[in-house]
Amino acid sequence: MHPQRKELQHRGEAIWIMDLNLKDKVVVVTGSSRGLGRFIAEGLAAEGCRLAICARSAGKLEEAARGMRAAGAEVLTMPTDLTVPGSPEALIGLTIDHFGRIDCLVNNVGGNRRGNFVDTTDSDWQAVLELNLNVHLRCARKAVPSMMQNGGGAILFIASIFGREAGGPGLSIYNATKSALISAAKIMALELAPHHIRVNCIAPGSIRFPGGSWDRRVQSDPEGMKAFIAQNLPIGRFGRAEEIADVAAFLLSERASLVTGACLNVDGGQSRSLI
Ligand SMILES: NC(=O)c1ccc[n+]([C@@H]2O[C@H](COP(=O)([O-])OP(=O)(O)OC[C@H]3O[C@@H](n4cnc5c(N)ncnc54)[C@H](OP(=O)(O)O)[C@@H]3O)[C@@H](O)[C@H]2O)c1
Repeated sequence: MHPQRKELQHRGEAIWIMDLNLKDKVVVVTGSSRGLGRFIAEGLAAEGCRLAICARSAGKLEEAARGMRAAGAEVLTMPTDLTVPGSPEALIGLTIDHFGRIDCLVNNVGGNRRGNFVDTTDSDWQAVLELNLNVHLRCARKAVPSMMQNGGGAILFIASIFGREAGGPGLSIYNATKSALISAAKIMALELAPHHIRVNCIAPGSIRFPGGSWDRRVQSDPEGMKAFIAQNLPIGRFGRAEEIADVAAFLLSERASLVTGACLNVDGGQSRSLI
C-alpha cells in the first residue's frame, strides 16, 4: 500500500482516501467572510488548518469565523480593507505574530468594474488593479521571507478562466487584471521553486453560491440563465463553491508537490482555450 493512503468505509465500500496532511498548517485566506474565500477557508478548517481570514465587514467576518471555530479550527480575524496602504502587510504580519509562522497563502479577494472599454476611467482601472493584482503581490511579498525561513510553503491565486481567454465585451479590466495575475504567478513559481515554495492559480468558471453574483443573476433572469447554461456550461450546471475549495486544499497540500507554475481550470469544461 502507498504509505500515505488510508482505507475508509464509504457507503459500505472500502475506498482509498488521500491524506492531504494539512493539519496545523497556518493559512491566510483573503476575502473570506463570504463567497469562494469563505468556502475555501471552511474547507481548510475541516482539514485541520489554523486560519487567518479577512474582509471589510467585521460582523460578517466574525460570523464566518464562528462557524470555523465550531468545527474545531483556530481562527484569527482581521477586519480590513486590503486596498488601504499597509493593510496586506499588516495582515501577514499579524498572522506571523499570532501563529509564529505562515505556511500557505490564498489570494482570493477580487472584483470587477464592468463597462465598455472607451467608457472606463483611470480610476476604474486603478481600483481593480489594486484589488485583483497589487493587493495579492503585497501579501505574497510579505509572506515569502517567512515561508523561506520555514523551509517552504504554498501560494495560491484565485484568478478566473477570463484571465486565460476573452470573457467578452465589457470585461476589459477584469480580463486584463486576471491575466496579469496568472502571469506574475508563473514567474514567482520559477523564482521560488528553489526555496520549496509552490505558486499556482485556480481559474474558476461560473460558480454559483447563495448571495453570489451568479445566484443574483439566476434570481433576476431565470430563463436567460437557463440559456446561458445550455450554451456555456457543458456539465449542465454552475460550479459549486465546494468544488473550488477541494481543489484549493489539494493544491496547497504536499500531495500536489510537483504542481507549481500551473493555472488549473476548475470550470466543468466551460473555458474554450487550448492553453
Ligand atoms: N464567483 C465566481 O463565479 C467566480 C468566477 C471566477 C473567479 N472568481 C474570483 O474568485 C474570487 C472570489 O469571488 P467571489 O465571487 O467569492 O467574491 P465575493 O462573493 O464578492 O466575496 C468577496 C470577499 O472578499 C471580501 N472583500 C471584498 N473587497 C475587499 C477588500 N477591499 N478588502 C478586504 N476584503 C474584501 C468580501 O467581504 P467584504 O465585502 O466585507 O469586504 C468577501 O468576503 C475573486 O477573485 C473572483 O474574481 C469568482
